[in-house]
Amino acid sequence: MSTQSSVNAPDGLPIRMTVLRNSAGMDVTFMDYGATWLSARVPLADGSVRETLLGCATPQDYLHQSAYLGACVGRYANRIRNATLKRTGTTLSANTPPHQLHGGPEGFSHRRWLIVRQTPNEVVYRLHSPDGDQGYPGTIIVEVSYQLTEDNSLVIRYQAETDKLCPVALTNHAYFNLDANQGDARQHRLQLAADLYLPVSAEGIPDGPLKDVTGTGFDFRQPKTVTTDFLQDSDQQKVHGYDHAFLLTRAGDDRVPAAQLWSADQRLQLSVFTDSPVIQFYTANFLQGTPARQGRYQNHQGIALETGYLPDSPNHPEWPQPDCWLTPGEIRQSVTRYQFSARAE
Ligand code: BGC
Repeated sequence: MSTQSSVNAPDGLPIRMTVLRNSAGMDVTFMDYGATWLSARVPLADGSVRETLLGCATPQDYLHQSAYLGACVGRYANRIRNATLKRTGTTLSANTPPHQLHGGPEGFSHRRWLIVRQTPNEVVYRLHSPDGDQGYPGTIIVEVSYQLTEDNSLVIRYQAETDKLCPVALTNHAYFNLDANQGDARQHRLQLAADLYLPVSAEGIPDGPLKDVTGTGFDFRQPKTVTTDFLQDSDQQKVHGYDHAFLLTRAGDDRVPAAQLWSADQRLQLSVFTDSPVIQFYTANFLQGTPARQGRYQNHQGIALETGYLPDSPNHPEWPQPDCWLTPGEIRQSVTRYQFSARAE
């Protein structure tokens, strides 16, 4: 169901909200501005319903935060060094000078998307991004579909086409807190199917080769509470916590979970399945002050698990992952599934 909110987006038109429901009692909410995922309310075994996503009290508040809460991020999610595409000699718009973050100052997260299809359990948004948008070459047409399934999964399908060679990496920037947004999300347990992570500088730019997680605080191959090794090493200290890309061991295999997250009270579990090569694991190190449903968030109140490519991939063709450059005539499709499971009680 879609409704018009009384809040206008920066283009002066009202924001459109869409709610999808399944017969298990789960509902998810989106808005067309930023094709943003606003809420995911999951039924627990005792019949209560728990909010699992960080979010704001009103659509208006989303327009005044810089955490990318639940937004669809593009053209290139994550950072591009010196806002430069060396391969095409292109200069992009820098929004974290001299670098570009999450597609530039007016990236896809800051745009009105068109609803092109809708059913009770699916909504499809489309965005037309013109040649030169945020400095990127080529006109690209992007579609993102959100589908709620009967097994309490939110399936996100991305599709992109271009008329000029251009890097594309689309993600959703949801922050999860499976303890009903209560407390510090570092109390969650996390498992990540990744043998390698990419160290970055204090500016979040890759500054060395991929590193083996073995014997480091980045080893989440067995479930571990996020606090266990938090800030124990210089790679984390540079960026105030975890804010790193993990190269998935079974990249391209969307049948086994790439990540699993458990609430501190163990009542709720999230499994992330993706055919993308990478997950950016971010402990919300700069979240403080972001408008919440009540009051404001503190740092580390949510955990983002952003599927996509390694940061600055357009400038690193040597890295062992599929090519992020999209060529004319090609249709890029990717899928990420967030499955919520309540513990039987
Ligand atoms: C980045 C963080 C950044 C945040 C912005 C994350 O994807 O990895 O470094 O601060 O987005 O909200």
